[in-house]
Amino acid sequence: MKILDGKVCADSLVADIAKKVTEYADSGLRKPHMTVILVGEHPPSESYVKAKIVSCENADFESSLIRFPEVIKERELLARIEEINNDPTTDGLIVQLPLPRHINQQSVINAISPEKDIDGFHPANFGRMTLGQKAFRPATAYGICKLLQFYNIPIKGKHCVVIGRSNIVGKPISIMLSNDFDIGNATVTLTHIETPRKLLLDETRRADIIIVAVGIPGFVTPDMVKKGVVLIDVGINRLESGKLVGDVAFDEVAQKCSWITPVPGGVGRMTVAALMINTLMAYQNNFNLA
Ligand code: GUN
Repeated sequence: MKILDGKVCADSLVADIAKKVTEYADSGLRKPHMTVILVGEHPPSESYVKAKIVSCENADFESSLIRFPEVIKERELLARIEEINNDPTTDGLIVQLPLPRHINQQSVINAISPEKDIDGFHPANFGRMTLGQKAFRPATAYGICKLLQFYNIPIKGKHCVVIGRSNIVGKPISIMLSNDFDIGNATVTLTHIETPRKLLLDETRRADIIIVAVGIPGFVTPDMVKKGVVLIDVGINRLESGKLVGDVAFDEVAQKCSWITPVPGGVGRMTVAALMINTLMAYQNNFNLA
């Protein structure tokens, strides 16, 4: 069993980005700039946002964190997004999810300019990605692709099973891996909460690659996988003890895997790295750079 180390891969990608930023700065351009909006107090979001800001520092990007109280009205949030859409000094905008229940998440995502939508959640980007056109790709899914690529894991022709159909992970990764991309051309089965247990097991037991994003600690157990599987664990769950774990019963399952991502230090790191790639792309688009 070998570890797909998200930290090593992300650090390498961010170092490459930092080199590019230095080149652009040497030619007199301003730095790339990521703006993050955080609404309310949600401890996991606090730590994800912190990781994004630290990564901006490592890549020599500008970053701005805009905080709003939980009680902010949807129209005030939309007005602020509109201002940032029109601000030429911000290249990429993230609204950290989840949002409070009184705010319509899809309305907020739709309000972000597709040119600044580095999360790749806007329907224009999601549609373009689905059609195989140039787009900001959803960051966690894109990060998983970059991790597989970094470790030279073959994808073309493989049978890949995705567990979980969320808009931010399961749905986009299932599309990306089945598309005719450089990192793609797999045969993908998308399973979800309504998939009968027997069908789920039939699929996972013959999968070459499993990607699990359900938010349930210990969901993937050794009896569900074949020997030699590549296992990508997207879950980030905090146990009552304070320990951070994924969706895989790591100690038991790891022995059967050829490759596995750890939690922490796996996919989470790659989400941030992919956001940095997307921000650099937004910046390059702004300045008509290659
Ligand atoms: N919340 C959990 N994951 C994400 C993500 O990738 N982007 C945003 N904006 N919010 C999230």
